[in-house]
Amino acid sequence: MKLQENISLKAYNTFGLEVTAQKFGSFTSEDDLKAFFPSQETWFILGGGSNILLTQDFEGIVLHNQIMGIDKIKEDENHIWLEVGAGEVWHNFVLHCIEKEWAGIENLSLIPGTVGASPIQNIGAYGVEVKDVIESVKAFHIETQEIHVFNNKQCEFGYRDSVFKREQKGKYVITQVTFKLNKVPTFNVNYGAIQQTLEENSITELSLKAVSDAVIQIRQSKLPDPKEIGNSGSFFKNPEIPTSQFEALKEKFPNIVGYPVKEGVTKVPAGWLIDNAGWKGKRFGEIGVHAKQALVLVNYGNGKGNDIKELAYKIKADIFEKYGIEINPEVNII
Ligand code: FAD
Ligand code: EPU
Repeated sequence: MKLQENISLKAYNTFGLEVTAQKFGSFTSEDDLKAFFPSQETWFILGGGSNILLTQDFEGIVLHNQIMGIDKIKEDENHIWLEVGAGEVWHNFVLHCIEKEWAGIENLSLIPGTVGASPIQNIGAYGVEVKDVIESVKAFHIETQEIHVFNNKQCEFGYRDSVFKREQKGKYVITQVTFKLNKVPTFNVNYGAIQQTLEENSITELSLKAVSDAVIQIRQSKLPDPKEIGNSGSFFKNPEIPTSQFEALKEKFPNIVGYPVKEGVTKVPAGWLIDNAGWKGKRFGEIGVHAKQALVLVNYGNGKGNDIKELAYKIKADIFEKYGIEINPEVNII
């Protein structure tokens, strides 16, 4: 692996934060990882940089995942199994599958980042989570230098969560993900906004492309494009609270939104809480809260990671004070 020194990470994180990596190298294979580890240096695995908040220069080695490839490993009448390199760009993979008429990830169109990061927080949008189509995850175990295969159950997927964010955090480098996709699509268009957009687009016959286009249209209408305004998508996760607490809040805030997730538990959109608390569209110099989606913190150009972190913690404290609800970052603060 060729290492470069004093590399700006501005183009490598979607917040567009100007920080420097002491050293920077790309790996393209398991052999590259074997040659690098074990290492005495501090290291960080970087995918598309779309779920990180960089608060300081990185005094160590940033290892950029460039393991590529989309390989068909199995097929039957109804399904196809694809092993995909962790460095592949997620949205390119989605478009590839749509073109081939392989169904299952069209609702996850336009999510930034890499295939390898997709299982880490179990990316999700518009009624689908990537756990629904992941067969297994191949990962390089840093300590033993061995490849370990996690089946779907062993990944312990949850809402924006997996074993890779908890017990196994920092112990593995994900190298490939195997997906099981459908050759015969069952469309997942229950989400109100998708139905509405399909109607507006006069779609009478569903297709993977029509669903993907609708999702892209909805996303572009409310989420800022990182190429124009730096951001990392939803900064916080949506909190789950006891339904009794939700009912009590409804007395005080009749417009509050909530979705039952299981018996006695309600998920509340953090975007609503932050919006209703008056933060939406607030700008503080070079940073702020997005005007169309209060869950998205933004960098207008020359913002600093620490200022965004500070703003996030002010919002968190305010939400707790106003509603008694704890909200926690989805973004990895580095
Ligand atoms: P990075 O930001 O590079 O890394 C994230 C973390 O994973 C880091 O801790 C990193 O060290 C670790 N990591 C990355 N790759 C590997 C690997 N191969 N092995 C081990 N560790 C690794 N997310 C959703 O779930 N749903 C959405 O709808 C959504 N919308 C978004 C919209 C926008 C505009 C943006 C900017 C982000 C959005 N996100 C969304 C968040 C983000 O796209 C996902 O979390 C994505 O999976 C991050 O991928 P990445 O490659 O950029 O990861
Ligand atoms: N809302 C407001 N004001 C706002 C934002 C939202 O009142 O400023 C309300 C909306 O009116 C709606 C509800 O909150 O009733 C939910 O909003 P939205 O549909 O925009 O979704 P979200 O809960 O904010 C989640 C995910 C997104 C994902 C979308 C679509 C989390 C943390 N975020 O957002 O994922 O794309 O649903 O499924 O779960 C991400 O993880 O980075 C991300 C963008």
